[in-house]
Order: sequence, then structure tokens, then C-alpha cells
Amino acid sequence: MSAPARRSVLITGASAGIGEAFARAYARRGWDLILTARRRERLEALADVLTPSGVKAHVVPADLGADDGADRLLAALRSQGLSPDGLVNNAGYSRTSGFLASEWADHDAMIRVMLTAPVKLAHGLAPAMVERGYGRIVNVASLAGTMPATGGDTLYGPIKSFLIKASQGLHLELRDRGVHVTALCPGYTYSEFHDVNGSREEVSAAYPRWMWMTAEAVVEAGIEGVEANRPRVIPGLANRLLSGLAQHLPNGMALRMVGGHARRLKRL
Ligand SMILES: NC(=O)c1ccc[n+]([C@@H]2O[C@H](COP(=O)([O-])OP(=O)(O)OC[C@H]3O[C@@H](n4cnc5c(N)ncnc54)[C@H](OP(=O)(O)O)[C@@H]3O)[C@@H](O)[C@H]2O)c1
Repeated sequence: MSAPARRSVLITGASAGIGEAFARAYARRGWDLILTARRRERLEALADVLTPSGVKAHVVPADLGADDGADRLLAALRSQGLSPDGLVNNAGYSRTSGFLASEWADHDAMIRVMLTAPVKLAHGLAPAMVERGYGRIVNVASLAGTMPATGGDTLYGPIKSFLIKASQGLHLELRDRGVHVTALCPGYTYSEFHDVNGSREEVSAAYPRWMWMTAEAVVEAGIEGVEANRPRVIPGLANRLLSGLAQHLPNGMALRMVGGHARRLKRL
């Protein structure tokens, strides 16, 4: 009798934070990994740590902010004969310098990393999942995508809202074909995210510990959600309460509540 085929998952942004935690979590579950991000050495170090557990880890570096970043990644997978059963669209970041103060090229790259790449990768990889009758797609969005917009990181929330809606649509399209699609919407999570956007000190001072989750807890909620085929998962009770509150308040009041966020961080 032949051994059952091993599952494999492509994880974007696997060099740090939530993506790295996804890699460790899927490795524990016996899945093979395809790890991508820009920092090759980080990915290789992670692969070295995880392969002794019997997992195969392929490192395929890519810059998803480049014009043809997602296309190049898909081409690299094809040329290596890799057709993953799972896709975790996780790569992302925010900018806090303000919409007008940032160059258009920076906004463009952000849209490519967090909006174009996730849907392009899903479009490129889901057909084989449908053909096999099995697939798992987790789109790492954000609590910010369920809330009114904030100033300062003006495009971040709208991009994440798009990803939540696109996930819902794809969930409906694929739910009876063995392919589960989930938008994972974390709130404040310990990772490198706030070091990259330069707000670590401010957010640590502004937001108490109960508002923060570990990347590991976020990932477990995401994997549980996609296995259960839930279209949207907000990890953590506090985050679910905040999101529910914002949705049930009158628009103007909710905007003022969330707008206070940018003022607290002294961005506006
Ligand atoms: N941390 C939070 O509080 C929080 C809350 C809600 C949602 N999220 C979302 O969670 C996701 C993961 O963020 P994180 O918190 O884990 O942050 P992180 O620790 O900074 O990790 C971000 C990952 O994205 C990758 N990345 C960034 N730009 C890229 C590019 N141009 N091309 C390819 N990969 C790129 C980075 O890899 P390289 O630098 O090596 O390319 C890194 O692996 C993001 O989508 C973020 O929006 C985070």
C-alpha cells in the first residue's frame, strides 16, 4: 500500500512573525513547507530548524512588492514542480508616515504585496486544489479591515477590507469543492510588524497587554478556522468585542472612536 501523499503549504512572509509561526504550526502537523519572503537567509535558517522533524521545506525567495513579484513566484513554483495544497497569504506591513507624505511608489508596492499578490496567488494555485478536491487558503487580513478607517496608515484598513471581502467571495465559490477559504483578522500581535513601521514604543505605551496576542495563538485560531471552513476568523475575545462594538455604533461615533487611534499615536 502506498503511503498517503503529504500535504504542502505555501506561506508568504514566512521570514518573521505570524508567517514564521504558520510554518512551525504546519510543520508540527506534518505538512511540507514552501517558504517565501525577501530575506532568503531567514527562510533558510527556519528550513534548517524544521527539516530535522521530517518535514521538507523549500525556500523560494520573492519580493511581492515588485511589479511582477507574484508572477515570478508562481513561475518559480511551476519550474520546481511545486503545487501546494495550502496557501497562507500573510506577507504584509503598514506605513505610518501619512498618505500624502509617502511616495506613490510606496503605496503601489504595498497594494501589490497585500492586495494583488494574495488574489493572484489564489487565482494561480486554487485551480489545482479544486482539481484535487482539497485545498486550504488563509488570507491574513486584520481587525483593521473590519473597523472604520484610520488616518496616517490610510490605505492599510481598506486593503485589508478588500482581502476580507475577496476571501468571502472565494469561500462561497469554492466551499463545496473541498477548498476552504478563510480571512484571518488579528488585532495587535507580537511580531516584527511594529518595529518595521517604527511604532513599537508608541503602541506599547498606548495599548495594554490584554489587547495583544502571540503569533502562535493567532495562527492556531486561523488553522482551526480554515479547517472548519469559516469565511472569517477574528482571534481573541477582546478583538471580537472591539470589532462588534465598532460595527454596532453609529458611523460617525465609530469613526471618532477609531480616529482617536491615530491621534493617540500622534500621527495626526
Ligand atoms: N502584528 C500585528 O499586530 C498584525 C495585526 C493585524 C494583521 N497583521 C498582518 O499579519 C501579517 C504578517 O505580519 P506580522 O505581524 O507577522 O509582521 P512581520 O513580523 O513584520 O512579518 C511580515 C512578513 O512579511 C514579509 N514581507 C514584507 N514585505 C514583503 C515583500 N515586499 N515581499 C515579500 N514579503 C514581504 C516579511 O519578509 P521580508 O522582510 O523578509 O520580505 C515578513 O516575513 C501582515 O499581513 C499584517 O498586515 C499583523
